[in-house]
Amino acid sequence: MLESIPTLVHHPISILERLNPDALFSKHQQIELELGSGDGSFLAKYAAIHPERNFIGVERLLGRVRKLDKKGLKSGLTNLCLIRLEAAYLLEFLLPPQSMDAIHVYFPDPWPKRKHRKNRLIDTRFTELVAKVLKPGSVVWLRTDDLDYFQQMTQVFGENQSFEAIETPLELATIITDFERGFQARGISTNRAAYRLKHR
Ligand SMILES: C[S@@+](CC[C@H](N)C(=O)[O-])C[C@H]1O[C@@H](n2cnc3c(N)ncnc32)[C@H](O)[C@@H]1O
Repeated sequence: MLESIPTLVHHPISILERLNPDALFSKHQQIELELGSGDGSFLAKYAAIHPERNFIGVERLLGRVRKLDKKGLKSGLTNLCLIRLEAAYLLEFLLPPQSMDAIHVYFPDPWPKRKHRKNRLIDTRFTELVAKVLKPGSVVWLRTDDLDYFQQMTQVFGENQSFEAIETPLELATIITDFERGFQARGISTNRAAYRLKHR
């Protein structure tokens, strides 16, 4: 008989029907989502210091998903689940409305050339998807090194009346990501923004 290899990676049974996020974890507790989790240092650390919350990491590159899988397994994390998928597809088609207690998007690909900006994850449509998936009162946390992208992020979230801008608390800001460590080492400044979904 084949033995199953331990992994934190979840393979959705269907890409047509919505997931049941609670079914991904052994404990029923608040769920936070990171889009574009990369090599996953942020999530590995943050999930370890918050065992009272569950975390989903979404990343489209398999090698990066595997790195975070290894980190999570090594640390014995039971509150972390990884999904290899396009972030916008997951938001639009797989996550149920009002199912997430926070969304983290750190250093999404900046697509700096003007003709490539249409590929950016965070645009007006993204704010609408986030407003649908977040629970009211919950927050989307954003970071980027790219000033033009930062302006775009703050503009589109600022224009969406469902959100209000808030500060990023120090406890969260001090947990840095892999890319952020690289930027800091090179003396490149980074920007943070956060938006709370208002109660209607
Ligand atoms: C610049 S890296 C930042 C990684 C990590 N957040 C960090 O700060 O270290 C952006 C990551 O997002 C992933 N990514 C970009 N677009 C994505 C998408 N549409 N869906 C899922 N992952 C995406 C990339 O593969 C990459 O790992």
